[in-house]
Amino acid sequence: MTTTLRAAIIGTGSVATLHARSLDHIEGVELVAVADVMPGRAREFADEHAAAAHAYDSLEALFAAERVDVVHLCTPPGVHAPQAVAAFAHGAHVIAEKPPALSLAELQSMTDAAASAGREFAVVFQQRTGSAADHVKRLLDAGAFGRALFATCNTLWFRDAEYYSVPWRGRWETEGGGTTLSHGIHQIDLLAYLLGDWRQASAQLWRQARDVQTEDVSTGTILFETGTVASVSTSVVSPRETSSIRIDTELATITVDHLYGHGHENWRITPVSGSLDDHDDWILPEQEERSGHDAFIREVYDALGKGEPLPAVATSPARSLELVTAIYSSSSTGRAVTPATLKDDTARLGSLESPVTDQRRLR
Ligand SMILES: NC(=O)c1ccc[n+]([C@@H]2O[C@H](COP(=O)([O-])OP(=O)(O)OC[C@H]3O[C@@H](n4cnc5c(N)ncnc54)[C@H](O)[C@@H]3O)[C@@H](O)[C@H]2O)c1
Repeated sequence: MTTTLRAAIIGTGSVATLHARSLDHIEGVELVAVADVMPGRAREFADEHAAAAHAYDSLEALFAAERVDVVHLCTPPGVHAPQAVAAFAHGAHVIAEKPPALSLAELQSMTDAAASAGREFAVVFQQRTGSAADHVKRLLDAGAFGRALFATCNTLWFRDAEYYSVPWRGRWETEGGGTTLSHGIHQIDLLAYLLGDWRQASAQLWRQARDVQTEDVSTGTILFETGTVASVSTSVVSPRETSSIRIDTELATITVDHLYGHGHENWRITPVSGSLDDHDDWILPEQEERSGHDAFIREVYDALGKGEPLPAVATSPARSLELVTAIYSSSSTGRAVTPATLKDDTARLGSLESPVTDQRRLR
């Protein structure tokens, strides 16, 4: 990179720390400003991560005083859309935390604003990154494993009452959805990154234990364009936590079992029994890069610094939000959803709010 990009972080809560640490490792970028609506929080954050950065109590105040090239949105998802649109109007590129928005319509408004400003819009789905995911995707795309037949995608996490005491969590209006939108979306995004476009989804939402408006468990079935069928479960009531994807193809079983990020040790490729072929090309590359914010943010800045299009790990933010929306929509309508019917549903529903089967009254 020849010029230094001036970065700002909006929302200096927990995930912002990962962004600040990632920026520390990248040449040609300087964290010049941070903003948070909570009094004193932005200054405290700047003191810890970038003492020279200016601190503001709103995005508007920051834009009034600074010229910024890249804006990192680490705010709750309910404000991502207006803040991204404001950032594009300011002339900045945007790196937004997942979920990018509370609805596909909001996401479209962000994509449109980026296009008319001629700026890049990256959404952090960091599970796509890392050398193992890259290797497996290349082999799947090349047909090296034969046809993918069946997959499972499980995000089985544990979030207690204290986690949901943060006012914006657990409410349709501010979180936009429950654990499917906030947690499951990571693995669903990786699954769709590996398997491609979807054809149909059906699902149900459940409230098993948490005192939330939204779901704490969801169960669903996704059919991909290739004909691969996937069973997808998401939970925040699972004491032994795991994030896992398994893809059974004609020639192999591919698994990744991890929690919040994966390295080579988390991936396994098992050939079909009796196979006499050598599978040297299946062996993971010697050079390992773990998945995570570091890899994602570095890849995005590499592209921004060179003025190149965003890398594959940062494009197509709509696909996983579509799948999550389809899960909510199917739960609402009681029928299978396709990309064509999803358009009608989202126009009709306007938000992801969907009926949840409340099992807590059975206790
Ligand atoms: N990619 C990941 O692995 C990952 C992990 C955690 C959170 N997230 C996502 O990051 C986002 C933030 O989550 P978090 O856990 O850091 O939340 P958080 O509540 O810890 O932090 C959010 C911060 O934004 C501030 N804020 C709220 N409204 C604002 C506004 N209008 N302008 C400026 N600041 C504002 C809050 O005061 C708070 O400090 C969410 O979208 C979440 O889903 C992603």
